[in-house]
Amino acid sequence: MIIAIPAETSSNEHRVAIVPAGVAALAKQSLHVKIESGAGVKAGFSDEAYKAAGAEIIADRADLLGMAQVVLQVRTLGANREAGQADLHLFAESAVVIGLADPLGNPAATQEYASRKLTLFAMELLPRITRAQSMDLLSSMATIAGYKSVLLAANHLPKIFPLLMTAAGTLAPAKVLVIGAGVAGLQAISVARRLGAVVQAYDVRPAAREQIESLGAKCVELDLATDDAEDKGGYAKALSPEQENQQREQLARVIEDCDVVITTAAIPGRDAPLLVTEEAVRRMNAGSVIVDLAAERGGNCQLSEPDQVIEANGVTILGPTNLPSEVPLHASQMFSKNLTNFVGLITDEGRLKLDLEDQVIQETMATHDGEIVHERLKSLLRS
Ligand code: NAI
Repeated sequence: MIIAIPAETSSNEHRVAIVPAGVAALAKQSLHVKIESGAGVKAGFSDEAYKAAGAEIIADRADLLGMAQVVLQVRTLGANREAGQADLHLFAESAVVIGLADPLGNPAATQEYASRKLTLFAMELLPRITRAQSMDLLSSMATIAGYKSVLLAANHLPKIFPLLMTAAGTLAPAKVLVIGAGVAGLQAISVARRLGAVVQAYDVRPAAREQIESLGAKCVELDLATDDAEDKGGYAKALSPEQENQQREQLARVIEDCDVVITTAAIPGRDAPLLVTEEAVRRMNAGSVIVDLAAERGGNCQLSEPDQVIEANGVTILGPTNLPSEVPLHASQMFSKNLTNFVGLITDEGRLKLDLEDQVIQETMATHDGEIVHERLKSLLRS
């Protein structure tokens, strides 16, 4: 069976879906890997490295996509509004496409896959169960984003992070607040701590407290009844409008004293909750920095804009939407490991084998046999 790895076509996307080590892992599963020439260059992997690992280099994208039964991409059409459309007619009939697809943010794109009778696995839909952990792309990318968000904040802050006692006086440590202590937030806490900042964190899920404290950060307690804020998949549920207001007001009192605020709060399939209001920004000291990792979904900060740097009353607000692409080598290495593990689940001795009863396959599959097969996507498209 032929597996294709096309180059990414979205601008500023530096990752590649499979790294040379991944080619070797797929070849061991008796799969034939073909990769578009130059696909790994921005992530630091040359055509020669892929060739040495056992891949065949193909110069023509149409040829590559036309011969593949399985296509592995970082961004499939749903997550590549800018250029994804051009591939749609190039895929072979009944091909399987695997990658990020933004299915809940852009469900209409899945319809296009269904119409072309392609099978789409949207990796964002992977269930967060123990068996699927080695394929959990969202966690891998959130880990990188959380790490990089702290470095970005440190770069824009007119202060250093650690406490320094020098002959020229004492420098107080930076005060960092992380809002949303999921995968990205926990990584941000640990990186900020390692850089020497004093770190506090807040999450609406009560279970997050222990994790925040285990990383040496102080857990911010708000006076809100949020005992049932977690759904059965481990994700946060939306709060009531009244709870949201109370949360914003109480958070503003914590935020005004911080040098850096990193926000990561998300509810799958919904706009990001607004947690840092314009008024809260106004109350911060000049020179403070906000990094809003939810900017792509409307933002946790009222003033953030996707991929823009905003200055408001001396506060710098950043809304990066693709930090993993800025750490392309390691992000691609993790991407590749997650995808090769997923390919292992849908193949057997070099052939495609889709066990439609398998929970991981079932929940990650967006389209199959000309239909949208995922219930949540169907209902999103109906509404
Ligand atoms: P996410 O990216 O959906 O959201 C980030 C964080 O924002 C979450 O911790 C969420 O509770 C928080 N949040 C949402 N609304 C908020 C609000 N109004 N105020 C404050 N915080 C708010 O979450 P992520 O990082 O994808 O993780 C979701 C959950 O899944 C976590 O409990 C995580 O530990 C768990 N998980 C489990 C895995 C497994 O068992 N295989 C793998 C990865 C994550």
